[in-house]
Amino acid sequence: MPKILTIIGARPQFIKAAAVSRRVKDFNIEEILVHTGQHFDKNMSDIFFDEMEIPFPHYNLNINSMSHGAMTGRMIEEIEKVIIAEKPDILMVYGDTNSTIAGALAAKKIMVKVAHVEAGLRSFNMAMPEEINRILTDRISDYLFCPTQTAINNLKLEGFDNFDNQIYHSGDVMYDAALYYSNNSAGKAEWFHKQNLKPGEFVLCTVHRQENTDSPNRLKSIVEALNQVNDELRVILPLHPRTRKILNETGLKLGFEPVEPVGYFDMIELLKNTSLVMTDSGGIQKEAYFFNKYCITLRDETEWIELINNKVNTLVGSNSEKIVNSFRNYMGQTFPKMNSLYGDGHSADKILSVLEK
Ligand code: UD1
Ligand code: UDP
Repeated sequence: MPKILTIIGARPQFIKAAAVSRRVKDFNIEEILVHTGQHFDKNMSDIFFDEMEIPFPHYNLNINSMSHGAMTGRMIEEIEKVIIAEKPDILMVYGDTNSTIAGALAAKKIMVKVAHVEAGLRSFNMAMPEEINRILTDRISDYLFCPTQTAINNLKLEGFDNFDNQIYHSGDVMYDAALYYSNNSAGKAEWFHKQNLKPGEFVLCTVHRQENTDSPNRLKSIVEALNQVNDELRVILPLHPRTRKILNETGLKLGFEPVEPVGYFDMIELLKNTSLVMTDSGGIQKEAYFFNKYCITLRDETEWIELINNKVNTLVGSNSEKIVNSFRNYMGQTFPKMNSLYGDGHSADKILSVLEK
């Protein structure tokens, strides 16, 4: 039976593991989960393990709140020890965080095969730490599971056909998670029900990207836009701890009370009931689409280009006028019907059936 060591550490990886790890029981696979500790607040980590079907991690390395180099370096060191102790056949990583590149590097250097879920995505912006992480992880991965045809094309254009790897079009495990967990989210979204929010009477927003939080001008402009939007329709902003810290440090004032990060069931109910979504998150851009909501993306580029091509997502960067105009423009528009862009909701099974062999 193949033994897989799966590295998770940041919030989006818990959602992805909630799609994949819950399916492992139906495959001839042993999975060991390693939490790097990158995210650690209760509402950024434990809440997902408590409410979703993710096995409790076998290891928590407790590595967080450091500079990129220190965090990645410490993770490589500790993950290597776990690999040596557990002797997995394959190490699996998700996405593009520091936990992703650390896991991939630790494994590859000691001849353990690497599987990368969410391979091939590109923003073509090398100033993003995530772009560096995903390019390097792809290059040293043996199994590349691409969520979209665009991702496969990106790899081919970079010459991946000439490298020693296997590329699969698996679909997107976040779509699996959205379909599966939305079946009973209403009954489990306790926080959401307490807020007494009416459908369409609020705008769901999230902001946490380094390019926005660490640029005083960009953050100021986004805050101004959110304050203006909030004058027209209530903004619900589950605030990432990174952004909360920087708002506190800079003294930038939101004209409304943000809320704490929420669990996934509450997030699904927010997505189902919001008028539209404003975000710089990678995952939430897709989730807006899964729940038939327009998305205003607070970035200059996106990896999820098919959403732009289908005109359900618009890139506005941090310009406050563009953000507010885009909000006004999308309000009242009916979300178009379209075929699934991200697979059939069974991506996890496709991935696990490859790894099982
Ligand atoms: C990370 C990922 C990013 C991803 C995001 C998802 C990298 C380079 N970035 O960014 O790609 O979109 O996660 O949310 O890996 N913090 C807390 N409590 C927590 C988590 C973080 O206080 O539970 C604080 C940390 O102490 C740090 C800051 O937030 O000061 C940033 O955390 P970090 O994990 O470095 O990066 P993210 O911005 O969360
Ligand atoms: N999410 C959540 N609660 C929140 C904010 C996000 O459950 O308060 C979920 C969201 O629904 C998505 C994932 O976390 O599934 C995305 O995480 P994030 O935006 O932090 O990271 P990114 O996708 O940008 O890497």
